[in-house]
Amino acid sequence: MEKLVNQTNLKNYYSGKKVFITGHTGFKGAWLSLWLNQLGATVKGYALAPAYESALFQPIVSGSMFESVIDDIRNKEKLQTEIHNFQPDYIFHLAAQPLVRRSYKIPAETFEVNAIGTANVLECVGHLQNPCNVIVITTDKVYENKEQDILYNEEDNLGGYDPYSASKACTEIVVSSFRNSFFNLNKINEHQKSIVSVRAGNVIGGGDFSEDRIIPDIIRALQKNETIEVRSPNAVRPWQHVLEPLGGYLLLGGLLNDHPSIYSGAYNFGPNPNDHLTVKALLELALKSWGSGNWKDTSDPNQLHEANLLKLDITKAKEKLQWLPKLNATSTINWTMDWYKQNTSDQFAYTLEQINQYMNL
Ligand SMILES: NC(=O)c1ccc[n+]([C@@H]2O[C@H](COP(=O)([O-])OP(=O)(O)OC[C@H]3O[C@@H](n4cnc5c(N)ncnc54)[C@H](O)[C@@H]3O)[C@@H](O)[C@H]2O)c1
Repeated sequence: MEKLVNQTNLKNYYSGKKVFITGHTGFKGAWLSLWLNQLGATVKGYALAPAYESALFQPIVSGSMFESVIDDIRNKEKLQTEIHNFQPDYIFHLAAQPLVRRSYKIPAETFEVNAIGTANVLECVGHLQNPCNVIVITTDKVYENKEQDILYNEEDNLGGYDPYSASKACTEIVVSSFRNSFFNLNKINEHQKSIVSVRAGNVIGGGDFSEDRIIPDIIRALQKNETIEVRSPNAVRPWQHVLEPLGGYLLLGGLLNDHPSIYSGAYNFGPNPNDHLTVKALLELALKSWGSGNWKDTSDPNQLHEANLLKLDITKAKEKLQWLPKLNATSTINWTMDWYKQNTSDQFAYTLEQINQYMNL
């Protein structure tokens, strides 16, 4: 199968286009902003200030590469003004409270930011006169998790045990409601708005400094020569390098723009079935790639509930979009650890190098 996530294709879709990204100061949003910038798009970001110091965010939030608005997604008036003034061709909506364990501390806020925040974005889209394609980023955790060895596909039931997963399942329902009520495909010629939701697996890569995520936890411990504490070594996840789902979102956005009635809907993006790994297997590959380090099992029977077994079926993205993962599990982890091995001053250039390398695979 021909690999469609390549420079020529993506440039055709995005060069000279206006792209509004919510969550541009976050891990995935920063990579996406830089990638779109490389493709020749005019990018405007809207998000809270970055929670962590990172070489990746600096040229983004300083506004030296493109317009950056620092504000809350729940401030609908401000959001409306910024979207209206920009008149985007595309919106990638990533802004969210994305952490499962934090969602137990701030459940109501997690629902507000994730579900109501998405309704705010879509309401603003409804006020645009021009055509607009909207890509709403949810997660693999939107599925009702049966803790069985099955691959979830886009037709499976939505659910969510913890507040984060449930808030993202709510986000899916918000998307579906707006699509039916305001952006119905039957009237696409009138409103010219199309929406998709995208459900990626556990994303890893350079530039993530979040709390309670495995790669940032590993890096923090390794840099301090400490033993890595692991809560759920046997949990299985669909790990993927950040460039994999982002490539999928970009490809889908372009196809949606050209053929909205064919591509509207929900899509999973994840690794090939053999590359779903336990936390323990990921950790061992990460330590091998780093060259040193050790870990210990700190699981506790009373710890907060997190899904133990989660696998994604990516057949729809493969068949309908001709999207394919380009990196296997080992390369995914090597690309990630290689990023953190760079000196801080080289990380920005290295990010661009990895983007270009990925497009040429
Ligand atoms: N990282 C993963 O493994 C993963 C997997 C599946 C889905 N996702 C989804 O991808 C998206 C991006 O995740 P990430 O890993 O980059 O997270 P991140 O925490 O690094 O970034 C989150 C972004 O959202 C912004 N944000 C948070 N609350 C906001 C608010 N109230 N108003 C405005 N902006 C706000 C932050 O400022 C930041 O820019 C999220 O929607 C997340 O749910 C992430």
